[in-house]
Amino acid sequence: PLSAMEQEDAIRQELGSLHGIPLFKSFIEGWPQVKAFQARPDDLLISTYPKSGTTWLSEIMDMIYHDGNVEKCRRDAIYNRVPFLEMKVSKCPSGVEQLENTPSPRLVKTHLPVQLLPTSFWEKDCKIIYMARNPKDVVISYYFFHQMAKIHPDCGTKAEFLENFMAGKVAYGSWYDHVRGWWEKRQEKKILYLFYEDMKKDPWQEVQKILQFLGKELAEETVKRILHHTSFQEMKKNPTANYETMFSTLMDHSVSPFLRKGICGDWKNHFTVAQNERFDQHYQEHMAGSDLHFQME
Ligand code: A3P
Repeated sequence: PLSAMEQEDAIRQELGSLHGIPLFKSFIEGWPQVKAFQARPDDLLISTYPKSGTTWLSEIMDMIYHDGNVEKCRRDAIYNRVPFLEMKVSKCPSGVEQLENTPSPRLVKTHLPVQLLPTSFWEKDCKIIYMARNPKDVVISYYFFHQMAKIHPDCGTKAEFLENFMAGKVAYGSWYDHVRGWWEKRQEKKILYLFYEDMKKDPWQEVQKILQFLGKELAEETVKRILHHTSFQEMKKNPTANYETMFSTLMDHSVSPFLRKGICGDWKNHFTVAQNERFDQHYQEHMAGSDLHFQME
């Protein structure tokens, strides 16, 4: 484990800008390596805007890759089993370094907007699974995550954070641009576009979609085991899935646990009526002309 001193430079810093996208300065420092990343044809990329169910999808994918073998999926923490491509904090192996040492077939996590994805993924025609979540739940989840994950700048009050989120002034920028950019790309590339809300409502069906996308078959009992192991309750108590093993200098679960609520519509407990009206209007403006639709609960 690293001392608090060694990690100080990753704590509560202002964001920098990567080609116009607000991002952690330490990640920007590592960008040349990310840009030059060599994907392998059998890499599978898990892409999301932050707080959209990345970890959930990652655990599901690792379980599928290991034919529902729970013990194999306990081999390491989720952030090592599915390395985070653009992750770089000083003194820790970067996402790229981790991936270089990962045997194929690799699962790769990214939050990059589609225009910043290293070109190698397109050249190698890698399969990509994108998961989107409705922005009201994302902003609330992101607000609590800012408080517990200290790589983020200070998030201010909930009202202030809501404004910053709507303006795209948070890490990874505009949620609208992110979900729309990846949605458009699915026309021409091997992208399976999933929704958190669908996964909550009918995980069986969503896992079937994934299996079909992978060209893989699993026995019914295996799928059942996967769904059980990746349920919110099971993941919450699983130290290899719940980020408890992350350095406490980087994440403080006593402020807010990583697996916080795991439901659809929690925003209703947090938005005022006025904030909701304002958000709806902003949403309509920014989703105009798109056939991409979200279930808000
Ligand atoms: P909440 O903060 O709303 O609870 P990410 O992995 O992209 O950072 O997303 C984190 C969000 O996904 C958190 O949302 C977390 O609780 C939720 N999540 C994680 N595992 C889940 C699961 N198995 N089922 C439902 N939601 C889950």
